[in-house]
Amino acid sequence: MSWKDKHITFLTKKNFNVEEIIGILKNNYKKIEKEEDIKILDFILENFTKKDFSLLNTQELEYLEKTPSENWTKYLIHRQKFNFCENSEIIPNFPIYLIIEPVSACNLRCPFCHQVDDKFTSNKQMMGQMEINLFKKIIDEAHNNGTNAITLTCRGEPTLHPQIGEMIEYCSGKFIELKMNTNATRLNEKLIHQILKSGMTDLVFSVDSHLKEEFESLRVGANFEKVLNNIKLFKEIKEKEYPNSSCITRISGVNVGKQDPIKFKEFWEKYVDYVVMVKMLDRWDVYNNPEGSGGKEACHYLGRSLSIYFDGSVIPCDIDYEGRLSVGSIKNETIKNIWLGDKYTKMIFAHKNDKRDSYHPCDRCPIGT
Ligand SMILES: C[S@@+](CC[C@H](N)C(=O)[O-])C[C@H]1O[C@@H](n2cnc3c(N)ncnc32)[C@H](O)[C@@H]1O
Ligand code: SF4
Repeated sequence: MSWKDKHITFLTKKNFNVEEIIGILKNNYKKIEKEEDIKILDFILENFTKKDFSLLNTQELEYLEKTPSENWTKYLIHRQKFNFCENSEIIPNFPIYLIIEPVSACNLRCPFCHQVDDKFTSNKQMMGQMEINLFKKIIDEAHNNGTNAITLTCRGEPTLHPQIGEMIEYCSGKFIELKMNTNATRLNEKLIHQILKSGMTDLVFSVDSHLKEEFESLRVGANFEKVLNNIKLFKEIKEKEYPNSSCITRISGVNVGKQDPIKFKEFWEKYVDYVVMVKMLDRWDVYNNPEGSGGKEACHYLGRSLSIYFDGSVIPCDIDYEGRLSVGSIKNETIKNIWLGDKYTKMIFAHKNDKRDSYHPCDRCPIGT
């Protein structure tokens, strides 16, 4: 079981033709250049032959359905690395995944989110938006070093950035996966066209309920009808004007234990490609969680991804929303130097050697519980 299975429940299920997928993967062997990737492909095929299809969740199956088959092999190798990185002893020489923060502020106050922590939102140094040139510098280095996946999200609401459209356009055609998580309150026609033209592969609408009252009690500050209309508008424009778009839309709900998952799925499935619920993590005041309450095993973020906050600080993961674990700044170093640097390497080593508790807030972070 990967970390992902413990966190995400795919409410929408999909069927697939495994013989077809195996046939395509076998035909594409000769296109794979790296030795390491050939080994991963062997491993995937071995698992499929043993009827282990844990790699193929709704997310991957949606991609296969919407994308030409010549892209499948590269994609599945990437997803194997991404989903099962914690089982791997090999740390790549550059992050395969970057989570970039256009804006740290948010227009909502979801009760399970760190945006309810006043110490964070009232700290002027922690509130801001990324300069477009810094963003481009990050994207250039990531692209040149083989990062496969980028997500625009982190601590705030990305669509609050006045140049978010330009940022998305700048990523166009550079990555296997380009994703954005948004609360969908600020979607508009212009942004929808920019998203669809950019070739964004995954757009996640964070929406926790299908009932107005419940939704507005969880997405505090949002209006249910407005968000629903924005999501409908996205679907309408995509279907009418971009019929060949491979942008996959997802509704993601944080499961607070109140929602009816079946009705939630039935309602939202009409407007998006698939619906998931994620486990609610106690991370809105993570620094004050009880000492020792965190997971004990090495965190799955380490050795896979980095988060880059608006001001260029590089953090192992954005659950650390005050950036106490910062391992460097992209303003004066390269991503590669930070990734291979002492500070980050020591942290990975500590986690892998049962010393996770020596890092704060790793000692009380819910990842891995
Ligand atoms: C912090 S938000 C930032 C992006 C954007 N504002 C949004 O809501 O999608 C990123 C994702 O984290 C999720 N999230 C926030 N707090 C969470 C928690 N305590 N447990 C699990 N997921 C959470 C949100 O629902 C969202 O999908
Ligand atoms: S989950 Fe997203 S929309 Fe909600 S408060 Fe946090 S950052 Fe804002």
